[in-house]
Amino acid sequence: MGRTIALSGSASGIGRTLAELLRERGDEVIGIDLKDAEVIADLGTPEGRSAAVAAVLERCGGRLDAVVACAGVAHPTPLAVTVNYFGAVALLDGLRGALAAAERPRAAVVGSIAGTQGVLEDVVRACLDDDEPAALAAADKAVENNMGLMLYPSSKSAVEQWLRARSVSAEWAGAGIPLNAIAPGIVKTPMTEPLFADAGMVEVMNEAVPMPLNGHSDPIVIAEALAWLISPANTHMAGQIIYVDGGAEATLRGPSVF
Ligand code: NAI
Repeated sequence: MGRTIALSGSASGIGRTLAELLRERGDEVIGIDLKDAEVIADLGTPEGRSAAVAAVLERCGGRLDAVVACAGVAHPTPLAVTVNYFGAVALLDGLRGALAAAERPRAAVVGSIAGTQGVLEDVVRACLDDDEPAALAAADKAVENNMGLMLYPSSKSAVEQWLRARSVSAEWAGAGIPLNAIAPGIVKTPMTEPLFADAGMVEVMNEAVPMPLNGHSDPIVIAEALAWLISPANTHMAGQIIYVDGGAEATLRGPSVF
């Protein structure tokens, strides 16, 4: 029987591919995005997040089989923090009650290999303290200091740290809700299209994110992994950041992480 799944970022790239895959399998997808979605909302603002949660709850009747927080931006601006961290967390927290009402609920986040790169500690700390004004002030300061490029890795590191902590809490693991992330390497989507158009940038990307296993991936690779994470088959995985990255994480961090 089809399941009901809320999915942010459903209008493009990985989210769009996942929505198509799930619908082909007979699931009902409640897409959330800035346009071309069942729920049109801006996850970069507190009002947009509340409106998104309310609209999803109304559509699903208070019961959801899965939530996937996929919407994200790679801009070197505070938007990376408001969408990638606060947007993802608000959606998952806001819909957790509806997940708890389902028989085999699942939740997933799209992280990134970027979460393993250098971060701005003040931004990450403010995110984890749930202090959006402080996170925005720290992000503005980073932009002023020409460190805007560190906002994306910071937002992904923060959301992955949030997930690690929450996944084993009474509200998530205790309520029978596996909460995990897929962390892609470089995926060919509209987000990376402008980078692929620049040969010099491709060289920089390949150095920062080496992918010895099969190179840059298509979005279906990430969508398939997310589909498994939110499937009933995933009963015992909690708090894992699964690198589907062509070997980038293993190359960069090596064996000593264990
Ligand atoms: P994309 O740009 O194709 O899709 C992102 C979607 O998020 C778009 O539909 C966009 O409208 C939506 N979105 C952006 N801001 C929003 C907001 N304020 N409110 C609601 N929706 C909003 O990008 P892609 O590549 O599919 O990215 C999906 C996720 O995968 C993101 O979280 C990204 O950080 C992550 N990722 C992507 C990688 C890549 O190489 N493409 C690598 C690692 C992670």
